[in-house]
Amino acid sequence: MALRSRPSAPTDKYMPEILAIYPGSFDPMTNGHLDLIERGCRLFDRLIVAVLTNLEKEPFFTVAERVEMLAAVTNKMENVSVDTFSGLLVDYARFKQAAVILRGVRAFSDYEYELQMALMNRKLEPKVETVFLMPQEEYSYLSSRMVREIFKLGGPVKGLVPPLVEERLHRKLFPQVS
Ligand code: PNS
Repeated sequence: MALRSRPSAPTDKYMPEILAIYPGSFDPMTNGHLDLIERGCRLFDRLIVAVLTNLEKEPFFTVAERVEMLAAVTNKMENVSVDTFSGLLVDYARFKQAAVILRGVRAFSDYEYELQMALMNRKLEPKVETVFLMPQEEYSYLSSRMVREIFKLGGPVKGLVPPLVEERLHRKLFPQVS
């Protein structure tokens, strides 16, 4: 694990760099995801946004498309990178030497699933800590599934996803219109 100096604390000279992984399917990324990435990159030294490649269901966007959108939207954030993973999340976290798994908790309904996942991940790899952050209230009802559904049924997704994602959604459904 890389060490960085902490000049203001002479008795405790070195502090380990904290690498966090923010995993998900991001199909597509929403403004809620972006909000969490912004919070995560302020808290941790490095943040890897990790896209799960082995989705059970048929995705709306390919993994390459999702990675490309995430990379474009986060390209100004110097300590954020985008990657993919398959298999167990804790194996990937171990491979990357990450100390933290970052997850967002929106409504109370998320809690049970997230708690189950965090506790199972802790059982599988006690050295990796799951950290939950809450997105901005206005994104607490937002999910990728809802965005896909609204968009497919012709509803507006403006303000729910970054403009680039909105444009890619349109391009996906209406490829003939540039
Ligand atoms: O935000 P999402 O799409 O609900 O993300 C779910 C994700 C990718 C974090 C979760 O499905 C996952 O970690 N999958 C990898 C397989 C794994 O490690 N399963 C055990 C977790 S209990």
